[in-house]
Amino acid sequence: MASELKDIPIRSEATRAVVDGPRKLAAAFGKELSLASRSVHADDYINNHQAVAPPMHVSTTFRYNRDPDQLRPWDNLNPNAPYDSHVYSRDSAPNTTRFEAILTSIIGAPCLSYASGLAAFHAMIVFLNPKRVAIGGGYHGCHGILKIMKKLNGLEQLELEDDNDLAKLQKGDVIHVETPLNPTGEARDLAYYRKKADELGCYLTVDATFAPPPLMDPFQYNVDIVMHSATKYFGGHSDMLSGVLAVRPDHAEKWVEALREERLHLGGVMGSLEGWLGVRSLRTLELRVKRQAETTQNLVDYFAQQKAEGGNLVADSVFKIQHASQQPEAKDADSWLRKQMPNGFGPVFSLWLQSEEQAKRLPSKLHLFHHATSLGGVESLIEWRAMTDPKVDKRLLRVSIGVEAWEDLRDDLLQGLQALKDEGY
Ligand SMILES: Cc1ncc(COP(=O)(O)O)c(C=O)c1O
Repeated sequence: MASELKDIPIRSEATRAVVDGPRKLAAAFGKELSLASRSVHADDYINNHQAVAPPMHVSTTFRYNRDPDQLRPWDNLNPNAPYDSHVYSRDSAPNTTRFEAILTSIIGAPCLSYASGLAAFHAMIVFLNPKRVAIGGGYHGCHGILKIMKKLNGLEQLELEDDNDLAKLQKGDVIHVETPLNPTGEARDLAYYRKKADELGCYLTVDATFAPPPLMDPFQYNVDIVMHSATKYFGGHSDMLSGVLAVRPDHAEKWVEALREERLHLGGVMGSLEGWLGVRSLRTLELRVKRQAETTQNLVDYFAQQKAEGGNLVADSVFKIQHASQQPEAKDADSWLRKQMPNGFGPVFSLWLQSEEQAKRLPSKLHLFHHATSLGGVESLIEWRAMTDPKVDKRLLRVSIGVEAWEDLRDDLLQGLQALKDEGY
């Protein structure tokens, strides 16, 4: 997809800054570089300092050109560093621009960053301005935004998995698909929803937070906008809040500047510290995500096998395991699921224990898993999901796998289950 960046007309220095670098890197090699190389180098062209590591700029405002003849409203070209040209940090800033440039390169579509995943989702809905949004389960916070929009303009929320509801959609409405889903890690078929959206004249938006590159490329399915909570895998270290919107390249000419202008007024930009942390984190995105996905697969396979064999600690304690790899289509190499996620399934799964008491107590028995919400960091987390999602089944534990060794994580879970059993749970 990234090659399509070359076709995007550039209307502002801010867009030039995030799109030109990825284009130049590809042109220098006559091909798109690997994800690993782009994550480390896609922002090099912005760096006009001898320092290898990116500096952190905290300035909210940037000096205008001293030559009055060069003054143009909202355009503040820095002649010494044309890609580092800024006016005011609610519009653009050095660290967040570098973060966006790398994301633009690795996602293959122009990216805008926001203060959080929910700020990005809100900006997307405000921009597309649908009368109806079809949305399924998944992260409850997005439903919270739609409720606020309903209060403001009567926006109607429809159920994604109900054909009668889908039939109510009209031209300009939105089908929003989260895949894989929070908290189960199960995936949804994007080709199916693209077809539905085309039939109904709707936009298709995807929350791809649970499957960042290299696990999934939603633009293969002509999705209109892809959103991510960058707080998760892009940040990757549980220390920054951020959201991202990636715009399909053929919409970019009209949509990117318009989204940027609306972001300037909504004010939901990410901070410079987060931009700096984000750049540092993206350097290792591929390493982390591949490892996290492999470890997750080992754990899910192990627990599923134990459960299937029966007559052991896991089979006695675990009610069920949910993950994309456990969906029936995962076994079929020609299935939509294997095509959509060719490089492995996501690093989050759900473990249901036999009782609410067991699920509530297991996290306190573990040594390596932190009992906390969120996901995507280098440290494994487990959450008794009832802590933050009032609607979820109380037997459900959401597990987010970090970069620890899988055997250690397995042993930690086993000793935790044993400790519970010893206490009579
Ligand atoms: C799938 C998904 N989308 C969006 C969000 C919201 O992101 P943020 O917490 O960065 O606002 C989350 C947060 O957990 C999420 O899991």
